[in-house]
Amino acid sequence: MSLADRRAVVTGSGGALGSRICLALAASGARVAGLDVSPAAAAATTDRLTGTGATARHGVVDLLDFAAVAAEIDAVADDWGGIDILVNTAGGGLVRPFAELTLEEWNSQLARNLTSVFTATRLVVPHMLEQQWGRIVTLSSIAAVRGGRLVRHATAYASAKSGLIGLTKALAIELAETGITVNAIAPGAQQTPGRDRDTPERREALLAQIPTRTLGRPEDLAATVVFLCQDAAQYITGITLAQDGGHSI
Ligand SMILES: NC(=O)c1ccc[n+]([C@@H]2O[C@H](COP(=O)([O-])OP(=O)(O)OC[C@H]3O[C@@H](n4cnc5c(N)ncnc54)[C@H](O)[C@@H]3O)[C@@H](O)[C@H]2O)c1
Repeated sequence: MSLADRRAVVTGSGGALGSRICLALAASGARVAGLDVSPAAAAATTDRLTGTGATARHGVVDLLDFAAVAAEIDAVADDWGGIDILVNTAGGGLVRPFAELTLEEWNSQLARNLTSVFTATRLVVPHMLEQQWGRIVTLSSIAAVRGGRLVRHATAYASAKSGLIGLTKALAIELAETGITVNAIAPGAQQTPGRDRDTPERREALLAQIPTRTLGRPEDLAATVVFLCQDAAQYITGITLAQDGGHSI
């Protein structure tokens, strides 16, 4: 699979999955621009990428700051002559029983997981429209399709991640004749550092729910992103692809 000469923007590039996705895109030949609110994490990914000989850069930005994100994205488009790929990975869940959830926490979860995707996507799409080619891939979650069976007490997170599935479908239809595809992936439990906090009992209970009895490998998820960004994936749009060992069946 080749992404030679493609120019990619990856949000949450400093994160466990985002950094893996950056590496996979770069290994396929893409130039990669990361966006992350964490300076250290964003820089670490860029260092790993440039260490492999890839062309990479990053911007330290809060995706909820529309003007700041616009400046970063326009700078990438100006310097590289356009943007072909957007991967939305920034996000993260809050665990709180629904009866204790505050309005501030609810709004914050929607902002972190849904509005952040609106911001990056809204700012990249005009660049893709100019060239009539684009690939947008967004990380939703099994929490959107299985409710709280994987992560209990995450109603706001599940709501936001469900919103991403609606956004993906509606935008896919709106852009269907423009050469831009819009897809989502709903990962199940991935082998990321967050899982290292699981007790053995929690791990056993989790694996018991998953038909393959395994956690997802971030490198496999990254390979799926690379696939959805291919030219040959042009007829795939509006889908939410479960990558969860059968957990959502
Ligand atoms: N890890 C899993 O098992 C799993 C499963 C299903 C879905 N997901 C989803 O995949 C995505 C990545 O997960 P991860 O495990 O890599 O998470 P992570 O916490 O390791 O990485 C998330 C990154 O997003 C960045 N970020 C968060 N809010 C931001 C903002 N407003 N502006 C800029 N950057 C921001 C963080 O700084 C961080 O680097 C998330 O959206 C998560 O909900 C993860």
